[in-house]
Amino acid sequence: MALPDDFIYSLKQNNPIENVIGSYVSLKKQSRDYICLCPFHSEKTPSCHVHPSEGFFHCFGCGAGGDVITFIMKAENLQYIEAVKLLAERAGMPMPEDARNNDFSRQKARILEINRSAAKFFNKVLRKDPAGEKGRRYFQMRQLDPKTIIKYGLGYAPDSWHSLSEHLKTEGFTEDEMVAANLCGIGRNGGIYDQFRDRVMFPIIDLRGNVIAFGGRIIDGSGPKYLNSSDTPVFKKSRNLFSLNFAKNSDEKRLILAEGYMDVISINQAGFENVVATLGTALTPEQARLMSQYAEEVIISYDSDGAGQNATHKAINLLSEAGVRTKIIRMEGAKDPDEYIKKFGSLRFKQLLDNSDGAINFELAKCRNDIDMNTDQGRVEYLKKCADVLASITSPIERDVYISKVAKEQGVSREAVTQQVESIIRRRKNTASKQEWLNIRTFSSEYKNNPDAVKHPAEFKAECGIISFLYKNPDETDNISHRLAPECFINDFNRLVYQKIIEKIKNSADFDIMSLQSEFTADEMGKITAILAKSREIEINRSTAEDYINILLKSYSERTEQQPASDMSDDDFRNFARSMRNNK
Ligand code: GTP
Ligand code: MN
Repeated sequence: MALPDDFIYSLKQNNPIENVIGSYVSLKKQSRDYICLCPFHSEKTPSCHVHPSEGFFHCFGCGAGGDVITFIMKAENLQYIEAVKLLAERAGMPMPEDARNNDFSRQKARILEINRSAAKFFNKVLRKDPAGEKGRRYFQMRQLDPKTIIKYGLGYAPDSWHSLSEHLKTEGFTEDEMVAANLCGIGRNGGIYDQFRDRVMFPIIDLRGNVIAFGGRIIDGSGPKYLNSSDTPVFKKSRNLFSLNFAKNSDEKRLILAEGYMDVISINQAGFENVVATLGTALTPEQARLMSQYAEEVIISYDSDGAGQNATHKAINLLSEAGVRTKIIRMEGAKDPDEYIKKFGSLRFKQLLDNSDGAINFELAKCRNDIDMNTDQGRVEYLKKCADVLASITSPIERDVYISKVAKEQGVSREAVTQQVESIIRRRKNTASKQEWLNIRTFSSEYKNNPDAVKHPAEFKAECGIISFLYKNPDETDNISHRLAPECFINDFNRLVYQKIIEKIKNSADFDIMSLQSEFTADEMGKITAILAKSREIEINRSTAEDYINILLKSYSERTEQQPASDMSDDDFRNFARSMRNNK
């Protein structure tokens, strides 16, 4: 999809990269640039750099990088054109006419339509169809009100291989569309069959009210309990939350996070609108960030079994990395919130929420697991584990309060606990800085270990240098491209970047390397920003660029004994011949 360069240019002007990235993570000023915790991998010390004047970001930890459009593509999991649309909307800019309807958005729109039809079908079967009797009995047994069934648009998928697909056919959907939406699979004979059979159905609805996927629960029999839609062009399970469409409307500044669909529905039916769950996977950093947009505090209400408690521990960390305060309910006498509410009622559940413990108390209590507190040795072990937890508290005042609490509880001196905690903090600081170093080293060594970089280090460095030089001095592109043919590059990727730069400059007046990103994947953009970020460490001026050109020309003529590559165009050949002359 070709968008006019001047449109992209003003799009970027109107969406300063530091503002856009700053709305996802908090940026810290560092001279002219910014650093932040990388939103694309989990880290404790910031290794992501944002360069406003040059309009790109780069993470030394995971290698992600690019301009503001690449950033949005990665952060929102969008295609190039959709990321552009989002930024245009953000800046209040109308999209150029011909870009509005492309194939990809059309396919997405169709999948959303087919999902809506399927949801209506499942819902109708559940409410009225004789085939839905089994589903009706099931939800009755789970004590769901008819109102709740309507609110969540719940349904039942008949025990049949073709009833949904037959129905969708009558509504004008093609088999390809059914498969693309993941509602149907392709059988061995090439025919299609319904994916969800004999299951109660939970439609998954996004913030705009679109049905983006389904979860289907078996009613009886064996095998995995739930079947969830796999990812489709409209659905990515790691970045959506079940029931957020309702929870977002709640006035509360806190969210309840439950484990299962049924827990969410029970809790909601009991009068708590602000409840969500993940979609059949553990909480992801993206979901934690999503929650941070709607809440300052999250009450984790996972199952009371071991798995639930381990998941709680992980969720606490992810949520606190996203800047959200966490509390944890302490549920006794029931395995999950659904059961708790049925046994003790919604009032008691409300008390559970109100009495929920802070994350630190949860973690401290967890230290007692598997420890015999009646022996001295057990208590020592417990105190050591507590010290680990206490050392993770970042606020000194808060840390002090909990140190006192633990010391008092176990009848040991505050000083002893403090000393232990401080030594852990010191040790961690050391390993953290080492770790950060390691990240940077691994990344640049990955680049260094590129076979071409190992075999031809001088040429590889020169190639990267030329690319960086052109990035800073696009006005030199003509001059350089006339002297240095792309064939002179050894590394395929570097050559491609170089070629694209030249191509681009031929076709547009104001160009910058970042505008290449319509031609490269997000990962490739990461490689490009790696080149740029690395070369920021050295000054590349005209004379260094000159040296680089000479290195590449010399190496090329040695490799080919001055035989130009046979598949050069006339134009290329002339340039090449000229470059050889200039070099003499
Ligand atoms: P009930 O057992 O009916 O109360 O359902 P639940 O929603 O409370 O589910 P449970 O607590 O057993 O599991 C929590 C969540 O994990 C579910 O809501 C699903 O999202 C997911 N899950 C459970 N079993 C499976 C499975 O077999 N496959 C997949 N993909 N996800 C599952
Ligand atoms: Mn359950």
